[in-house]
Amino acid sequence: MIIDIQPDKACTQFKGVFRVCQPHWRKTQKGADFMVTNLVDVTGGMTAYGWEGKYDGPRDLIDLERVEIVATSRTFNGATICDIMSMERSGGGNPLDLIPCTFMLNRDLVPRLSKIIDNLEIPAIRAFVGEVMNDDKLFLPFLQVPASGRHHHSEPTGLLRHSVECATMVAKMLELHGHERDLAIVAALLHDIGKIKCFDSLGKRTVSGYVLDHDMLTLELLAPHLAGLDESWPDGGVALRYLLTWRSGKRKMSVPLLTVAEAIACADRLSSGLDHKEQIFSDAPEWRRFARISANTLYWRPRWEMNC
Ligand SMILES: [Fe+2]
Repeated sequence: MIIDIQPDKACTQFKGVFRVCQPHWRKTQKGADFMVTNLVDVTGGMTAYGWEGKYDGPRDLIDLERVEIVATSRTFNGATICDIMSMERSGGGNPLDLIPCTFMLNRDLVPRLSKIIDNLEIPAIRAFVGEVMNDDKLFLPFLQVPASGRHHHSEPTGLLRHSVECATMVAKMLELHGHERDLAIVAALLHDIGKIKCFDSLGKRTVSGYVLDHDMLTLELLAPHLAGLDESWPDGGVALRYLLTWRSGKRKMSVPLLTVAEAIACADRLSSGLDHKEQIFSDAPEWRRFARISANTLYWRPRWEMNC
């Protein structure tokens, strides 16, 4: 990882899997091509060069692509940089280690996400989540977009914060172990992943966000990975689809077919309500006790001073 590459004036060779941030090619004063990029992972970033005649690798890299490299570090102007000798596109590495530091996530979110995943017990569910996180088209936007336009968790990366909160609450609510608990935790973690199509990385609502139901998009986006779960655990695939769509689905019933669905709905309401309330009162004067958001939503901030 980037943090393990020690500053050293002597040349130190290292290899590893990183992401390339904004790779582009330039020319030296003598007209030779060279590539400049920032190698990033969750621990930090490092400027990296690929020199014509010395660099062996693809020239058409895209931003945040995963690569495996062999490089030599050196110190330049007080910073540790490196020269890349070889580079290959990669599907490897731990997706949590490869979260770009440039995403500026809250410091505790990645460890909390890691803990949720580490505590899953059912191999088929763990494999499913691993596949989702290895899918850069899903996982990278999942880390970047807000959970809503202005109601709750509306900051960039808000969707991850809301998802981690929901999954953590569900894990705490359900003391049982095993299949149904793991399904509920994963459903809570991914219940809003359809929102990656509703917002861009700057938090602006997309056309899909205005027109489509995000639960429908959640199923669509997870479909390739649900198909994999169907292979290893057919009822698990159906159950996860049910938990992701229970509230908006055609078979909406007052009592869900899987009781753990209640925990997901409750965690979703708690997480969004608490954040919304905090957001509303953060700008309000101290004396204000009530805040009305809409005709049906009124929040109360009690006084905590006691007489004894
Ligand atoms: Fe939600």
